[in-house]
Amino acid sequence: MANSKFLCLIFLLVNVCFAAVKMVLSGVATPPGPAMFVLGDSSVDCGDNNPFNGLFHRNLSRFPCNGSDTTLLPQLLAKKMRLPYTTPFYSQNGSINRILDGLNFGSAEASILSSSSRNYQSLNQQLRQAVETIQLLQLQLGESTADTFINSSIFYLSFGKDDFIDFFHGNSLGNNGFDFAHILVEQMTNAVKTLYASNVRKIVCAGVVPLGCAPHALLLESGGGGGDGDGTRRACLDEVNEVVSYYNRRLEGNIAAMDRHMGDARVIFCDVYQAVMEFINHPHKYGIEDVRNACCGVVRGGEMSGCVSTEMACREASSHLWWDLYNPTPAVNTLLAHSAWSSPSLCRPFSLKHML
Ligand SMILES: *[C@@H]1O[C@H](CO)[C@@H](O)[C@H](O)[C@H]1NC(C)=O
Ligand SMILES: *[C@@H]1O[C@H](CO)[C@@H](O)[C@H](O)[C@H]1NC(C)=O
Ligand SMILES: *[C@@H]1O[C@H](CO)[C@@H](O)[C@H](O)[C@H]1NC(C)=O
Ligand SMILES: *[C@@H]1O[C@H](CO)[C@@H](O)[C@H](O)[C@H]1NC(C)=O
Repeated sequence: MANSKFLCLIFLLVNVCFAAVKMVLSGVATPPGPAMFVLGDSSVDCGDNNPFNGLFHRNLSRFPCNGSDTTLLPQLLAKKMRLPYTTPFYSQNGSINRILDGLNFGSAEASILSSSSRNYQSLNQQLRQAVETIQLLQLQLGESTADTFINSSIFYLSFGKDDFIDFFHGNSLGNNGFDFAHILVEQMTNAVKTLYASNVRKIVCAGVVPLGCAPHALLLESGGGGGDGDGTRRACLDEVNEVVSYYNRRLEGNIAAMDRHMGDARVIFCDVYQAVMEFINHPHKYGIEDVRNACCGVVRGGEMSGCVSTEMACREASSHLWWDLYNPTPAVNTLLAHSAWSSPSLCRPFSLKHML
C-alpha cells in the first residue's frame, strides 16, 4: 500500500517536473498575457513584411508610412490597450517570446483575393500563417495555456483597399463593382469564422477608407488632373465611394450577425470610412488643412507618382489628410485610434476599451 502511494508520488513529481521543463525550454515561466495579432495590407504594414518585391503598387505607395508602422492604427491601438508592439512576421525568428508579444502577418499591398500575378501575402496566406502560429503555441505551451492566451488576445483585420485599387484600375468605373465587393465581404466573413474555429474570441475588423476621395482616385477622373492648389475643395469620386461603402455596410452587417451568434466571442467593426469622411467634410475642426493632395506623392494631368521616397514628403504631414496616394497621415491615424478606443460610434457594437 505504502509502496503504491510512493510510486504515485514519484509519478506526480515526474509529471510536474516535465511540465516545468517544458515551460523553461519554451522560455515561459508564467502564463502569457494577451497580445495583438494583425492581418492586413498597407493600413497595417509599412512595407517591412514582404519577402518578395511587389510589382504594381510599388509606384503608388512605396512608403505607405514614414519608415515605421508605429504610426499605423493597429499599433496605436495596441499602445492604448497596453499590449506589446507586434513584430512583423518575417522579422521574427521563431522564438516563443516574440510570438507571445503578438505578430503582424500584414503586408503592404496584400489583398483579400489571391492573384497569381501578385507576389505577396494575400488574406488566405496570412490566415494560414496565423492558424499555424496558433498550432505552434498549442504544441509548445500545452492546449489550455495556449487557448487562454489566444482567446484573450486581439486579432485585428484590415483588408480590401488594394483589391479595390486594382479593381478600379482594371475596370471601367462602377462596372460590377457591387458584385466584386460582395465577393470580398464573403472572404472576410470566412476569415473571421476560420479564426473563431481556432479559438480566437476577440476580433476587430476595420473597414476601407473612402478611396474615392484619395489622391490616387483623381487619376480615374475622366480627363485626369484635378489637383489644383485649393487643398480643401471637396472632390470625391462617388462611383468609387458607393462601392466601398457597400463593402463596409455588408461587412458590418455580417460582423454584427457573427457577434450575436458566436455567443462567447466579441467581433467588432471599425468604420474608418465614416470617420475619414467626417474629417474631409470638416477638416478645420480637426486641424487638417489639405484633404485632397498627398503629403508624399503627386497626381497631375493624368500622371502620378506615389511616395517613392520619403524625401518627397511635405514638411508638415499633420496638415494633410493623405500621407500618400491612398493612406492617411499619422495625424489622421491618431484621431482614428482615439475614437476607436473610446467613442461608441467608430467601432461597433462597442469600442476597443470594452474589448479587453
Ligand atoms: C509603375 O512603374 C512601372 C515601371 O516604371 C510602369 O510600367 C507602370 O505603368 C507603373 N504603374 C502605374 C500604376 O503607374
Ligand atoms: C530570437 O530573437 C530573440 C529576441 O530578439 C533573441 O533573444 C533570441 O536569441 C533569438 N533566437 C534565435 C534562435 O536566434
Ligand atoms: C479561453 O480558454 C480557456 C482554456 O481553454 C477556457 O477555460 C476559457 O473559458 C476560454 N474563454 C473564452 C472566453 O472562450
Ligand atoms: C519622416 O521621418 C523622419 C525620420 O523620423 C523625420 O525626420 C521626418 O520629418 C518625417 N517626415 C514627415 C513628413 O513627417
